[in-house]
Amino acid sequence: MAQYQQFLGKFTTVLDEVKGFRYLEGRAIIGYIDGTEAPQVEDAAPYALVGDEDPEFINGSYLFTQKWIHDMDKWNGLSVEHQDRAVGRQKFSDLELPDEEKAENAHNLASNTGDDNKIIRMNVPFSNPAEKITGTYFMGYARHWETTKEMLQQMVDMSDFLLTFSELKTGTLYFIPSRPLLDEIAGGELN
Ligand code: HEM
Repeated sequence: MAQYQQFLGKFTTVLDEVKGFRYLEGRAIIGYIDGTEAPQVEDAAPYALVGDEDPEFINGSYLFTQKWIHDMDKWNGLSVEHQDRAVGRQKFSDLELPDEEKAENAHNLASNTGDDNKIIRMNVPFSNPAEKITGTYFMGYARHWETTKEMLQQMVDMSDFLLTFSELKTGTLYFIPSRPLLDEIAGGELN
């Protein structure tokens, strides 16, 4: 961080710093395996990278991040069966529940906008015991921002179970240029 600041300090102001960590087998902080239904690395590119539809920005990606704080006492106060219905999967086996056993607002119903609509996502756990906060830093890379936006909209419309014990602190949309485009920008070829 200090090294980044040597370069960026002149142009930027640090407002927040989130230190994430890997939790138990790479699970989300709510205890469930993360990323099961997301595309595997070898299939990820068409879902994460801009394609021929936008030649000027090809191979770039729309990265969306959100900082969530969870009421972990509320979540941990629920039975594992209740949590399973809330996520739509079994905590220990990671098996998906049949739809009729899921809560109406289960996270994997509320965030699913169709089997072709996928993004590359990761829920990074973070915690600061001194400030008494524990949360998730959500990151999703998408070829089209609309894909991520649709997921979020449906999570809100269906009152996703996760929202009942989570508070949103920040949300940011970035465009990550491809390496050649970054080189052009760095070389002053673009204004
Ligand atoms: C608030 C923090 C969040 C946590 C702790 C969380 C956790 C999880 C977990 C444990 C799963 C099940 C395993 C998997 O397939 O990955 C899942 C699925 C999923 N999540 Fe999240 N998630 C969060 C926020 C979000 C957000 C903000 C989005 C979208 C913008 C999202 C989109 C999805 C999608 C698309 C699925 C797969 C649904 C399906 O089964 O088709 N999640 N999430």
